[in-house]
Amino acid sequence: MIPAVRGTRDVVPGEVERWQHLEQVAHDVCRRYGYREVRTPVIEREELFAKGTGESTDIVQKEMYAFTDKGGERVTLRPEATPSVVRAFVQHALEQALTEAKLYAIGPMFRYERPQKGRYRQFHQLDVEAFGVEAPALDAEVIEMAAHLVAELGIADAELVINTVGCPECRPAFSRALLDALGDRVAELCGDCRRRARTNPLRIFDCKQPADQPVIDGLPHTVDYLCPPCSEHFAAVREALEAFGVEYRVSHRLVRGLDYYRRTTFEILGRALGAQDALLGGGRYDGLVRQLGGPDRAGIGFAAGLERLVLAMPPDAAVAAPPDAYVVAIGEEARQPAQVLARDLRHAGLCTLVDYDARSPRSQMKRAGKAQAGQVLILGADELAGGRVSLKDMNTGEQEAVPRGDVVDRLRRMQKDCVAS
Ligand code: HAM
Repeated sequence: MIPAVRGTRDVVPGEVERWQHLEQVAHDVCRRYGYREVRTPVIEREELFAKGTGESTDIVQKEMYAFTDKGGERVTLRPEATPSVVRAFVQHALEQALTEAKLYAIGPMFRYERPQKGRYRQFHQLDVEAFGVEAPALDAEVIEMAAHLVAELGIADAELVINTVGCPECRPAFSRALLDALGDRVAELCGDCRRRARTNPLRIFDCKQPADQPVIDGLPHTVDYLCPPCSEHFAAVREALEAFGVEYRVSHRLVRGLDYYRRTTFEILGRALGAQDALLGGGRYDGLVRQLGGPDRAGIGFAAGLERLVLAMPPDAAVAAPPDAYVVAIGEEARQPAQVLARDLRHAGLCTLVDYDARSPRSQMKRAGKAQAGQVLILGADELAGGRVSLKDMNTGEQEAVPRGDVVDRLRRMQKDCVAS
């Protein structure tokens, strides 16, 4: 047996129903908030992420599945969707084509990280992006939408955390304040943090090393260094969230691991998840669209990790529906008519199982029971001679003879009643 690659996983029947439910809810929530789906390639030019995600990020520095293709081009499996969605938005001038510049994408992402529960090398995101609106009303709407998605999935023990990381106007002063506050103590920090102090001091807040925490806890907070427009923006986002009745906590440590963020950042944490507890994360990225060659448009969005949402969903969120019918054939002459009956039921929209291997009637009945089929349709010599099918309701145990010509309609009606009740 050749097992799956480390950090990748199969989603097998039993679990896949939870994924299908999640995807259905995701499409529906996006539709209701005015987002249109976009499907972008899994493979992109490496420079898209070097420029978009940022050279100083762990993702670009350590985690990309980048390689030179046979034509000599540097390409990579996408580690996140935001730069791809921005690229598609610009490349297809979607701003002109759509009344609302709101896009979402669902698909696999690839990061060469150390696998653990909730962290994989191939994982899936629902990525939601909105362009062209600077008003804080959109920040609040996007955050509220993220919270609603989580609630729609029945995930109760989730916590929304928000912060602001300022803008290119006020961030230099904050970076200086961080370095001043660190002083010589920077030498006590881990290697990653010493590198961050040189390249992007804000990123020090990402550090998870226990030994570094006492120093990091004493560092200044972004909110105290915001320029007036950033400060007003953050206050307006908070006010709008309060008007929505969305509960949140402000964490000055929430700087997010990607370079493009400006102003609002947020995450929703799942308390039941363990160390990899971020169900989703996002923020505002005004400036990115232009940086990637597009017009000067604001942007904001988030991405949710589907594996983590599936883990956090309640155990009974979605189960496989049992088949509607099982066709039992008694004797050789009934085998072909049983296949035809199964075909007719399937064409009428009913999930139908049938035997192929001339099993005994007893064995077929057993399999119908094991599959939890709602109805068993029995075809034997008597039924064929009389132009009928014996219909056994597996819940009540009642059995009756139904004319062959009526049986498909009859089952369809039963199924409708069943769905309605
Ligand atoms: P991110 O925080 O890197 O942001 O990822 C978003 C979510 O993807 C995380 O909260 C987590 O649920 C999931 N995730 C990330 N890495 C892994 C992994 N290795 N295994 C499993 N799940 C993972 C972004 O990707 C940004 N593009 C979000 C964004 C969109 N910001 C603005 N627009």
